[in-house]
Amino acid sequence: RAMAIVKEFEEKCGTPELKLKQVADAMTVEMHAGLASEGGSKLKMLISYVDNLPTGDEEGVFYALDLGGTNFRVLRVQLGGKEVGIVHQEFAEASIPPALMSQTSDALFDFIAEKLANFVAEEEQRFQQPPGRQRELGFTFSFPVMQTSINSGSLIRWTKGFSIDDAVGQDVVAELTKALQRKGVEMRVGALVNDTIGTLAGGRYTNKDVAVAVILGTGTNAAYVERAQAIPKWHGPLPRSGEMVINMEWGNFRSSHLPLTEYDHALDVESLNPGEQIFEKIISGMYLGEILRRVLLKMAEEAAFFGDEVPAKLKIPFILRTPEMSAMHHDTSSDLRVVGNKLKDILEICNTSLKTRRVVVELCNIVATRGARLAAAGVLGVLKKMGRDTLREGGPQKTVIAMDGGLYEHYTEYSKCLENTLRELLGEEAASSIVVEHSNDGSGIGAALLAASHSLYLEENS
Ligand code: BG6
Ligand code: GLC
Repeated sequence: RAMAIVKEFEEKCGTPELKLKQVADAMTVEMHAGLASEGGSKLKMLISYVDNLPTGDEEGVFYALDLGGTNFRVLRVQLGGKEVGIVHQEFAEASIPPALMSQTSDALFDFIAEKLANFVAEEEQRFQQPPGRQRELGFTFSFPVMQTSINSGSLIRWTKGFSIDDAVGQDVVAELTKALQRKGVEMRVGALVNDTIGTLAGGRYTNKDVAVAVILGTGTNAAYVERAQAIPKWHGPLPRSGEMVINMEWGNFRSSHLPLTEYDHALDVESLNPGEQIFEKIISGMYLGEILRRVLLKMAEEAAFFGDEVPAKLKIPFILRTPEMSAMHHDTSSDLRVVGNKLKDILEICNTSLKTRRVVVELCNIVATRGARLAAAGVLGVLKKMGRDTLREGGPQKTVIAMDGGLYEHYTEYSKCLENTLRELLGEEAASSIVVEHSNDGSGIGAALLAASHSLYLEENS
């Protein structure tokens, strides 16, 4: 009976090439719809107000705040301009206390402002701003925001386990600025960016072929460079570059072609944001371990997979985190010792047989493979929209995809599978002009770079 559950789950999670191509096509169609009109699609295709990516000329000392991943970061970057690049960077990191994820906007922003205040106080001696010049900051805020300019925008809704009601609809830069004032920090917020936009900007700074950024971490999302004329819903002036970076918010993508199971439906219904972020809920780090837990629970309840009693811990939502799942999936010991230890330490399931452990690894593989292959299909959809999924006349145009996030960085089986699937979908020839590059913590630096290119003091710098 237990194996029947595994088999059925595997079938429902199937991602044959044809299905992935349908998913990619659906992604392309939704991208067009989201660009055509506000509310035209589940894909918000948000306008970032970034119409120029970093060139390397950026100069000066800039700060960044990075909120929305596993950790919250504050950083300072000293930019030396052409040929010099980044002279110096320093950062401080903290995790957001879970309670702050559901209290008030003031409580969250006070916490952030306090960390920034401490960071600035420590370096006060070493980094004096020139007289009459304010410190400037790029704010990476990794949630859907309807921007009204490069440095203002209101929160559309929370994702990834945050749920602070009074922040929804508020201008996040105004909220941050008020908190900075409360803490006595003098700082101008020069750029408000999503982590995908920050990663794109940080990636472009070091590699001019970067045109797409993908985050695979707690949540998932993508951004890319679009032709401004291909954005019917944009009524502003045409940017001189002719380009506009789009934050897709692809986590909210959904399509009838997505292979969804009863476990995904239950997870969604019981989540903080039912009906939303369906793509995110089957491919990103916040949810993979939880899907695995749900399958194991059903096997325990209906097939006594762990013996006569259903392990109590297995009933606790989100107890099995994706890093633990990844550790089990990567267990190469002959007796699957890591799997045995994780089951014991996290779920208090002792003395598991090798056969049981093998089944657990198989389940990890099913969940991760589905996620990684669908992420690859998403990337193909974006490349199709950009017309970069096939070789063009006049030789290959190289496209670099900057990727970041804990899932991509640490879950090797997942990232390997993603890259192999992308090659499979593109075909060897087209795949030769597409490069996936890890952009390590690029989003904070990207935000600082965008603060630099939107600085109030540009004339003085040049
Ligand atoms: C980091 C970026 O490297 O990756 C963040 O700097 C981003 O901006 C994060 O949000 C996503 O990864 P995770 O795994 O921390 O959610
Ligand atoms: C969630 C957020 C999105 C972010 C992504 C990755 O999907 O809504 O803004 O980019 O997570 O952090």
